[in-house]
Amino acid sequence: MAVIPVALAGRSYEVHVGRGLIDSLGTLAAPFMRKTQVPIVADSAAWAAHGRRVEAALAEAGRSAAVFEVAPGEGSKTWESLAALCDWLLDQGIERGDHVIAFGGGVVGDLTGFAAAILKRGCGFVQLPTTLLAQVDSSVGGKTAINTRAGKNLVGAFHQPALVIADLATLDTLSSRELRAGYAEVLKYGVLGDRAFFDWLNEHGAEVLALREEPLGHAVATSVAMKSAIVAQDERETSGKRALLNLGHTFGHALEAETGFSSRLLHGESVALGMVLAARFSARLGLIDAGDAQTVATAVESAGLPASLSALGLDCDGARLVDHMLHDKKMDAGRLPFILLHGIGEAFVAKNVDLTDVRTFLDEELAAVR
Ligand code: GLY
Repeated sequence: MAVIPVALAGRSYEVHVGRGLIDSLGTLAAPFMRKTQVPIVADSAAWAAHGRRVEAALAEAGRSAAVFEVAPGEGSKTWESLAALCDWLLDQGIERGDHVIAFGGGVVGDLTGFAAAILKRGCGFVQLPTTLLAQVDSSVGGKTAINTRAGKNLVGAFHQPALVIADLATLDTLSSRELRAGYAEVLKYGVLGDRAFFDWLNEHGAEVLALREEPLGHAVATSVAMKSAIVAQDERETSGKRALLNLGHTFGHALEAETGFSSRLLHGESVALGMVLAARFSARLGLIDAGDAQTVATAVESAGLPASLSALGLDCDGARLVDHMLHDKKMDAGRLPFILLHGIGEAFVAKNVDLTDVRTFLDEELAAVR
């Protein structure tokens, strides 16, 4: 088991990574459970798969669960779900000093975290992420949000959890596609800031995806440690450091928007392809060798993730994708920052990217035969 601290003035917390941690929930989360009935917001599929273990662990600690189930998928990150959740939490008599447990993937974590941020002007919450993507990314760092008519994650708050418990056993029930989508975020850490980790993943990625305990634990703990270090330096994404975590997200956001934020392209899949496009665009600008861009594409492809834009079969052109980018929440004073590469493991924020270049590049990528 690994314990990774997230060091933030007055809001430090730990991320526990290991197999079977849910069984120790009663002990691990004891300081954050004041009520005999512990309020849990749970993804209904994750609860069906693992809820019994949670209940048994709570029973051992003399507690029980009060569960608010959330349907899987982005459709649950709405104003309506937020209102229903807040009303339920108020019905549970939640006070500021209480903690709500978020049990599920990024949707449940984002929704619960945002409800906790605004309930009684801020109560506590504990993250129990049950997807690979949530374990390595969304459960750590305090970004919480819901979606609105205007787009994804446009209403939210920075609100840090009090504890994160990443039980690797919950990944056993994920579909292979969801697992791969989460793996894209693992690969992202290597590409953005750690060449040695990227090389390690090239050697051990298949074992990680096969959920072999030791390599999986290493991959999750290394990813969390990198995220923790970045968040500790730039909690609110103001210095440019945390923005590096958006590698692959600007291109990816355009692809998600074009595919209607649907299951046609999962978020992690869009990040994987977005990362390849960021690497290929960096090569086009002469920032990295074409060989390095190909190495990133090969790593993505070997993990069974989309590595070629033309293969997606989109019915659009580069101008349309750039148009989606203009609605990205990262737009700043009319300019869109891109995360590009000086090398594998050397991402940086490029603030002066010419969108005409991006459009031409995307037109070429859409037409390319690979
Ligand atoms: N998922 C990117 C971040 O937490 O900043």
